Parts: sequence; C-alpha cells; structure tokens
Amino acid sequence: MNDQGHVFLVGFMGSGKSTVGRMVSRQLRRPFVDCDERIERSAGSSVSEIFACDGEDAFREMETAVLLSLRSANPSVVACGGGAVLREENRTLMSQEGQVVYLRVTYSAALDRISDPSTRPLLTSSANPESLLDQRTALYESVADFTVDTMGKSAAEVANEVVRLLGSRS
Ligand code: S3P
Repeated sequence: MNDQGHVFLVGFMGSGKSTVGRMVSRQLRRPFVDCDERIERSAGSSVSEIFACDGEDAFREMETAVLLSLRSANPSVVACGGGAVLREENRTLMSQEGQVVYLRVTYSAALDRISDPSTRPLLTSSANPESLLDQRTALYESVADFTVDTMGKSAAEVANEVVRLLGSRS
C-alpha cells in the first residue's frame, strides 16, 4: 500500500463509511478522520443546523476546507461525506492525496442502515432522494481506485475487504 497517502472512503449516506473507516483505521494503525465530525466541531453546530442556517453551499465550502487541510496531515483513513464527490476539486484532491475506496450500497439498504434520517438533511429535504444516488453513482465510480460491495456484509467484513484490497496494491 502507498503508506504516504490517505485512504478516502466514499459512497452514499448509509454505506458505512464511518463505521468501516474506524475499523480500517484500527487495522492499519492510522488516525481516523470523519469529515462531517470535523465540520461539526469547527462550526460548533450539527450538519443539519449548518444546512438549515447557512445552506448547502456553505456546507460544501467547509467540506472542501476539511479535505484541503488533510494535505498536510499524517496518512489517515478518511470517511468523506456522501456528497464530497460532487466537487471536481474534491475528487482531484482525493486522487492526488491517496487511494479512494467506494463503498457501494443500494438505496433501500442505505435507508435501513440510517437510524435517524433527520441527521441527513438531504434525505429529508429532497423531493426525490433516491435520485441523488443515481446522480452520484458515476462520480463515486470515477474517483474510486477500489469498489467494495457492502450488501449482505457486516461492517467488519467490509473493513477486512478494504484492508485486503489496499494491501494488494502495495
Ligand atoms: C451528505 C452526506 C452526509 C453529510 C451531509 C450531506 C450528502 O454525510 O455530509 O448530510 O450530500 O450525501 P454521510 O454520507 O456521512 O451521511
């Protein structure tokens, strides 16, 4: 594996990026970065509050700022927000700064995994949230160095697969 770079986990809300990311970071003995948590900590408010008060564009600026800040960070495992792939500059940064793993999930399985949809403003505010997954699939695929199907697998199984795939390219 390229020890110098980060491991970026991308995929739709509910694909398991945070849970799997924590497990992968433990296995690789690397720091774990959750982009949404970083944003919430520096803004002092929740993702939902940021969307409601400042709007999605402001949130996307903060998301890009977190990704940019990783350029000077130790190699980490990074759980990106589901929409981080929307900006080309984010996709370029991920490709330049490490390896990108796409955790694939179907829309209905993603919904089953999200215990509290009110924490995902785009799920509750979009007229057709399922179309978000359709619109983004090509972006997830375009940025991915590896794709892992998460359907029917536990988070631990997915994490093991991620680590194995990363190791196969060392
Ligand atoms: C978003 C996904 C969320 C969070 C925000 C926007 C999206 O992250 O960044 O609600 O646009 O898909 P998770 O994928 O971790 O839920």
